[in-house]
Amino acid sequence: MSADRTALVTGASRGIGKSIAERLTKDGFFVVGTSTTDAGIETIERYLGDRGGGVTMRIEDLASVDAALERISSSYGDVSVLVNNAGITRDNLLVRMSDDEWSDVIDTNLSGTFRLCKSLLRSMIKARWGRIVNVGSVVGRMGNAGQTNYAASKAGIEGFTRALAQEVGSRSITVNCIAPGFIDTDMTAQLSEAQTDELSATIALRRIGSPEDVASAVSFLVSDDAGYVTGETLHVNGGLYSA
Ligand SMILES: NC(=O)c1ccc[n+]([C@@H]2O[C@H](COP(=O)([O-])OP(=O)(O)OC[C@H]3O[C@@H](n4cnc5c(N)ncnc54)[C@H](OP(=O)(O)O)[C@@H]3O)[C@@H](O)[C@H]2O)c1
Repeated sequence: MSADRTALVTGASRGIGKSIAERLTKDGFFVVGTSTTDAGIETIERYLGDRGGGVTMRIEDLASVDAALERISSSYGDVSVLVNNAGITRDNLLVRMSDDEWSDVIDTNLSGTFRLCKSLLRSMIKARWGRIVNVGSVVGRMGNAGQTNYAASKAGIEGFTRALAQEVGSRSITVNCIAPGFIDTDMTAQLSEAQTDELSATIALRRIGSPEDVASAVSFLVSDDAGYVTGETLHVNGGLYSA
């Protein structure tokens, strides 16, 4: 049933986005992945092969989003599944945080999610079917010193998700959030082995999560089986935090 459906995964060159894109192709979707660089697009096109394509997009830039969506529409048709995965960190204590560190994170993580949802909803509403999954973070619930900008963006994504779910539910479009815990990707690679061990000890499952752990939860939320789940946040954190 998903073979004729196109899924768009932002930030699919590596990490969680790559695993989500790979998983959705296994689920039968045609998958379009995005990156900000030509090298990222090459990677995406290599691993997706004929089951998808890659498109350059900077989610903080409306002109870039519009141009990418135009290319996707003309090459692949309507997108019925959107996974807003791309995200960044610019960590600093608040007293030292620059305006740019604050606004880069909000413009990318939160406003990027707004831009993509707004642009793609029209065709989902017309089709009377759609799935949107926004990637939040455990930090949006727990907080984390040095990440006020990131925590605000991710908590904002949860509120945005709940509100949008109410706006579009009558058209059989579901909007949910996935909140990963500590996942082994480039974003978390700067931690030393000792720090990782210390962190693992605070996780009920005693291990760092894998990108595949997140991808399988996304797979459920975009499936027909999840048709009665909307406005929710699904926590994938190994028991690091109980919401
Ligand atoms: N890793 C974790 O522990 C963790 C925990 C909770 C939540 N998350 C969230 O999960 C998502 C993925 O995280 P990750 O760890 O997989 O990150 P990652 O390894 O750093 O990958 C980030 C992806 O986002 C893309 N990207 C970065 N800036 C972008 C921009 N301005 N416009 C469009 N795309 C952009 C990157 O593309 P290119 O570099 O190829 O351009 C890359 O594909 C993020 O939203 C993150 O906040 C991660």
